[in-house]
Amino acid sequence: MMSRKKAILLLLAFSTGTLLLHQSAHLGWFPKSAPFSCAPPSPPRLKHTAVAFLKTHKTASTTVQNLLFRFAERHNLTVALPHHTCDHQFCYPRNFSARFVHPYTLPPRLIASHLRFNREELHRLMPNDTIYVTILREPVAMFESLFSYYNQYCPAYKRVPNGSMEAFLDDPRRYYRPHEKYAMYAHNTLVYDLGGDPEHSPEDPTYLPEFIRQVEGIFSLVMLAEYFDESLVLLRRLLAWDLEDILYVKLNMRSPESKLNITSARVAAQVHAWNALDARLYDHFNATFWRKLRRVGQDCVQKEVRALRRACEHLAHRCFGGQPQLRPAMQIKNKELRPWQPSAKVGIVGYDLPGSGAPLDEQCLKLAMPEVQYSRYLLRKQSLRNRRRAALHRPLPPRGLLRPPRHPVPKAA
Ligand SMILES: *[C@@H]1O[C@H](CO)[C@@H](O)[C@H](O)[C@H]1NC(C)=O
Ligand SMILES: *[C@@H]1O[C@H](CO)[C@@H](O)[C@H](O)[C@H]1NC(C)=O
Ligand SMILES: *[C@@H]1O[C@H](CO)[C@@H](O)[C@H](O)[C@H]1NC(C)=O
Ligand SMILES: *[C@@H]1O[C@H](CO)[C@@H](O)[C@H](O)[C@H]1NC(C)=O
Ligand SMILES: *[C@@H]1O[C@H](CO)[C@@H](O)[C@H](O)[C@H]1NC(C)=O
Ligand SMILES: *[C@@H]1O[C@H](CO)[C@@H](O)[C@H](O)[C@H]1NC(C)=O
Repeated sequence: MMSRKKAILLLLAFSTGTLLLHQSAHLGWFPKSAPFSCAPPSPPRLKHTAVAFLKTHKTASTTVQNLLFRFAERHNLTVALPHHTCDHQFCYPRNFSARFVHPYTLPPRLIASHLRFNREELHRLMPNDTIYVTILREPVAMFESLFSYYNQYCPAYKRVPNGSMEAFLDDPRRYYRPHEKYAMYAHNTLVYDLGGDPEHSPEDPTYLPEFIRQVEGIFSLVMLAEYFDESLVLLRRLLAWDLEDILYVKLNMRSPESKLNITSARVAAQVHAWNALDARLYDHFNATFWRKLRRVGQDCVQKEVRALRRACEHLAHRCFGGQPQLRPAMQIKNKELRPWQPSAKVGIVGYDLPGSGAPLDEQCLKLAMPEVQYSRYLLRKQSLRNRRRAALHRPLPPRGLLRPPRHPVPKAA
């Protein structure tokens, strides 16, 4: 406990110390070649800093969350984080409520942790210039990922003999019970996360078009995991951010042995039939995504995608001395970088930073930091700031009664 607190204090001291150096230092390594964007917006806009990212499940959303967290830290933005009682998600799978937000993270400019979308409550919480974005994934790959990741959580999956995905898909209704705990990981998970009704009959011709209309009315950008770099380019342009603001390494990935490798067209068709709402939702937003890309210009997007990949490689080289090596959690020496493991059957891999003796490079550490640790770290940091601010505005006690605070660092989530 003590050593963890010390580590966090050190990290905090380090980050404050480097803050001033940061602006110039982190630009130093950045390749200042030709402009990477072919159509710079004119006149130049200020970076947009109020963002609500609906973090969907098993869609590369942890990687997006990580870059948003890093952006928030660099720009001093308050990030809404879950209350202790909600874990590191906003009491998912319950409908989101502003009550789930930790008071030390109010008022926020950014939100990016798992929640079930609830328009009214997010409007209550977020500033009125908030831009809403989310990410979807192709249903077959997504279902395979859900099935293996949640095999020990979701009762529908636990009931299947031999944990066989094929057996489940042959007769899903035999294993699936709507409304039981964690049922949403087994049926139209995207529609559930977006606040829709995953049990609604796909035969109803009015439900999905109306739902899609609502989603389009709220979200300015729906990214796609299959076209991740293109999605980030669209995000960067939407928010008038720099290329440097969207750099990433992939997080929360499974080891190759934990993947089921769907190749059968029959299985793919079964996934589509079982998750018909999600499949149609995906098709719709895939079509709008490509329309958006065409509007920006394919050449232009590809140029930015190439620049993004070069810059990510450059950063990875600086942080990891080359392509970052994915490692099983047990082999990662730095505890702050060990990803959470959903069960003994699934290996979630992560990264370690080379040179354990060298001082931690804050930017590299954050780049590789898994969701749970980063959320805890941000909560501690924001709580500390909040307490300092509160202390400044509190009337001073009479002389002689001043005592140093006994708990300078609030306890972990
Ligand atoms: C963030 O806050 C710190 C300390 O309050 C300040 O020194 C720094 O200039 C701020 N940075 C930005 C980008 O606003
Ligand atoms: C949660 O939201 C859904 C969709 O809007 C709604 O049908 C349901 O009644 C809500 N549940 C609760 C407990 O409020
Ligand atoms: C947004 O909120 C600000 C201050 O809270 C207010 O001045 C502004 O008029 C609002 N804008 C819109 C579009 O509602
Ligand atoms: C489960 O696996 C065992 C051994 O691999 C096999 O004999 C059995 O038939 C399987 N059961 C089902 C329902 O697939
Ligand atoms: C899936 O494919 C990967 C690489 O192609 C392989 O390493 C892995 O063992 C496969 N998984 C299973 C369960 O067969
Ligand atoms: C998305 O749409 C594009 C363009 O129509 C198409 O080529 C691609 O196959 C679609 N992707 C998926 C995963 O369905």
